[in-house]
Amino acid sequence: MTDVLHRTGPRTVAEPRRIPAPWVQRPAGLCYGGDYNPEQWPREVWVEDIALMREAGINLVSIGIFSWVLLEPREGEYDFEWLDHLMELLHDAGISVDLGTPTAAPPAWFWKKYPQALPVTREGVTLGAGSRGMASPSSPEYRRAAANITEQLARRYAAHPALVLWHVHNEYGAPVSESYDDSSVAAFRTWLQARYGTLEELNNAWGTLFWGQKYGEWDEIDAPRLSASVSNQAQRLDFRRFTSDALLQCYINERDVIRRYTPTIPVTTNFMATNCLSADYWAWSKEVDIVANDHYLVAERTDNHILLSMDADLTRSLAGNRPWMLMEHSTGAVNWQGRNIAKRPGELARNSLSHLARGADAVMFFQFRASRFGAEKFHSAMLPHAGTGTRIWREVLDLGDDLKKLAAAKGSTVTSRVAILWDVESFWAQDLEWRPSSDLNHRERIEAYYTALWQAGISTDFAHPEADLTGYDLILAPALYLVGDKAAANLKEYVHGGGNLLVSYFSGIVDANDTVPAGALPGALRDVLGLEIHEFLPLRENETVTLSNGAAGTAWSEEIHPGTATVLSLYLDGPAASGPAITRNTFGTGTAWYVSTKIDGADLTAVVLAAVETAGIKTALRPPAGLEVATRGTGEDTFTFLINHAETDAEYPATGRDLLSGETVTGTAVVPAGTVCVIHTVKGK
Ligand code: GAL
Repeated sequence: MTDVLHRTGPRTVAEPRRIPAPWVQRPAGLCYGGDYNPEQWPREVWVEDIALMREAGINLVSIGIFSWVLLEPREGEYDFEWLDHLMELLHDAGISVDLGTPTAAPPAWFWKKYPQALPVTREGVTLGAGSRGMASPSSPEYRRAAANITEQLARRYAAHPALVLWHVHNEYGAPVSESYDDSSVAAFRTWLQARYGTLEELNNAWGTLFWGQKYGEWDEIDAPRLSASVSNQAQRLDFRRFTSDALLQCYINERDVIRRYTPTIPVTTNFMATNCLSADYWAWSKEVDIVANDHYLVAERTDNHILLSMDADLTRSLAGNRPWMLMEHSTGAVNWQGRNIAKRPGELARNSLSHLARGADAVMFFQFRASRFGAEKFHSAMLPHAGTGTRIWREVLDLGDDLKKLAAAKGSTVTSRVAILWDVESFWAQDLEWRPSSDLNHRERIEAYYTALWQAGISTDFAHPEADLTGYDLILAPALYLVGDKAAANLKEYVHGGGNLLVSYFSGIVDANDTVPAGALPGALRDVLGLEIHEFLPLRENETVTLSNGAAGTAWSEEIHPGTATVLSLYLDGPAASGPAITRNTFGTGTAWYVSTKIDGADLTAVVLAAVETAGIKTALRPPAGLEVATRGTGEDTFTFLINHAETDAEYPATGRDLLSGETVTGTAVVPAGTVCVIHTVKGK
């Protein structure tokens, strides 16, 4: 146990251990279900619930996620009777179990005895108990207690026939990730020693000569607490990395206990792929047997169907293009946003099938039965407070039928020739204070470039900048502020070897220590792009500049001096007037574009599609507005999902059998407003 508790090595992760596909052997088809919290109800309700689950075609439920105090009412005293009973009821009904470890919500007795495990915020506030997700990830007391309850569960249920999957903890890092408690500070120092070896290395990496911050002893180093002015940015970035590693170590701590008892049952934890930036999921995805993701709409956005697709595409990419699980989403409104807008009729199915189209083999919800009490009593559920007479319940039944019809898609995968670079370290760094403009926003730029591809019906992966990119014809780098040495060499090699790279402004600006490389910007990408940036020229709020190709730029401009790059478009006005705005460079046998201002809509689509064309990517017919076209397949079978998010009917070329309606489609599929067709074709038939 001791070495588990003290394992704090930096950013080294084991080789992935994968459960061979099909990953969840039981249940046989696509997984359907959700979080199930029957401990909130008397036992007669459990029986009713399980009958309703069968009616809906539910075959998998996640249980026990927040039940620590029920399982261990006092330290070292256990009560498994209720869980034994529940597991038996589910098993008798043929419903498989995704068993949670309850470690996101330690019991009150734990907090009374170990208050030092409570997290401390950057501002120095010790957070109280009485909620969930609030332990310091570096607390040895927390890790020990978490490993213990996990071991009790693993030992007891190892051979239970209903158990098909382990759900460790819940959404690591939410809502609290960084903790500034004493254990975290001590563990941070250990992590830094492993990363840098000597104080001299650390002082160099952190640039501590600036503002006289040089360290003479390891124990002078603190977590980057709120201070009088801006804290050392490299230190803050390292604290983020450390936190992701500390949280990951908590997961590994439990996973390794589980594996001792059930070596062949997959273990996972639920990610929040694009939403929570406290974990570096590229590293995490190597440690889970199946990538599982939670996704919730941003209720007030009107482009939610595109954001959902982006989240699903990132999740698939994190999964290495293996099937993944949608572990949670909602049937209707959530309860934690400002205005919790309800889903419209049909949206539940469109959302679910969009995840499926993008590689998910499981569609799960939070939660089965709506809670009557507690913080989430106003959250939608599969079974609403009003019961089975509701539209939501009818849609839940319909979705269950649809998933049965789509069972043949299980295990099929998605092929993309385009990838967008996604590096959470770059986002962490870019989001620190004192950047050249508050309009710089990596997330906004990624969404904009992704949207241009989505609207053109082009399938897109996400990739880490250090990953092997050679399988892609086009790589997009929107707002990739931080580019470390390895990533820089990788991108260079990719383009030199014939790849196509499209870069937007504020990319390649700093290295892994948030330090500007020597010479003109953008240091890491200067050669590839064939240009130098001499000065950033951010724009005022609402200021627009005009480009010679007719495009309008906002937020940002800069003074560019091309070397080998060709100028495609000039600034006609604004602070960079008469200078280059968009360039293209031949580097080796590849091509690199640079877009130095914020362009949107048709202007951005034109640039993206020009790069797509140069990359030799043949695009299918552009779908009508609001029609999502996404394909997954095996060598033999192709499943083309046509999801109509618009309020008018849509048509799209397709031939095959619509698995949902059962009808044969020849030449053109008509997709009524708000509905979905899944066209199945078999090679050679
Ligand atoms: C998730 C969480 C669930 C539930 C849900 C509500 O983030 O994992 O337990 O709280 O949000 O939307």
